[in-house]
Amino acid sequence: RRCWLIVPAAGSGTRVGGERPKQYLPLSGSPVLACTLERLYQAFPEARLCLCLKHDDSWFDPNQVPFRDWQRIDGGAERVDSVLNALRAIDSEAAPEDLVLVHDVARPCVAVDDLCKLEQAALENEAGALLATPVADTIKRDDGHGLVAQTQDRRGLWQAQTPQGFRYGLLRQALEAALGPCGIGRDRVTDESSAVEALGLFPCLVQGRRDNIKITHPEDLPMAELILQAQRA
Ligand code: C5P
Repeated sequence: RRCWLIVPAAGSGTRVGGERPKQYLPLSGSPVLACTLERLYQAFPEARLCLCLKHDDSWFDPNQVPFRDWQRIDGGAERVDSVLNALRAIDSEAAPEDLVLVHDVARPCVAVDDLCKLEQAALENEAGALLATPVADTIKRDDGHGLVAQTQDRRGLWQAQTPQGFRYGLLRQALEAALGPCGIGRDRVTDESSAVEALGLFPCLVQGRRDNIKITHPEDLPMAELILQAQRA
């Protein structure tokens, strides 16, 4: 059975600021994208990589890809569209039982141990698996005007990370259904798991490391730099 990696990297990354998309900002001397792909390659050197990029991405350099077996996929309007483009592109090659791991390009600090743990859990669970961490902060819901409306009970709450792993057939069915006429819709499919959950299934939560941060805001970059340094020490 084949293992497929889908890396959505077609976001504009504007929240980080600056004109350079966040996946190309330098992290320990290499672009974020190269760091993320290197981690994935360490864990899954034989996997086939589908890298979702903007059609007019002028920052991408194929030398940033360590994989022998890879293809470029055109990104879509939203993250879910980019992932679905990849799934559709491999339709004739992927078997329904093949494992597909989806990992955000913006998470370069994911540990190789966690990648392997996640792969194992995704293989063992019919409904797939995702890396996640128990919520550590107290979570407030606002009233829409900057006042606290409610404090959530954080017991049992998790923060979803990536990778998230599912069988090809299930993931394709879930994402197609989510965007279909009776689906939960683009706005609510912020990860793969939410689409699978909408089918009435229960993906497995695999507790990951808290340092698998997503680079979203400018202050995340120096933090990622420190995390990579600490992981090397
Ligand atoms: O913006 P955000 O950090 O939530 O994006 C998550 C991931 O999805 C990033 O890796 C980003 O590059 C990717 N993405 C994509 N296609 C889009 C939007 C985001 O591949 N249209």
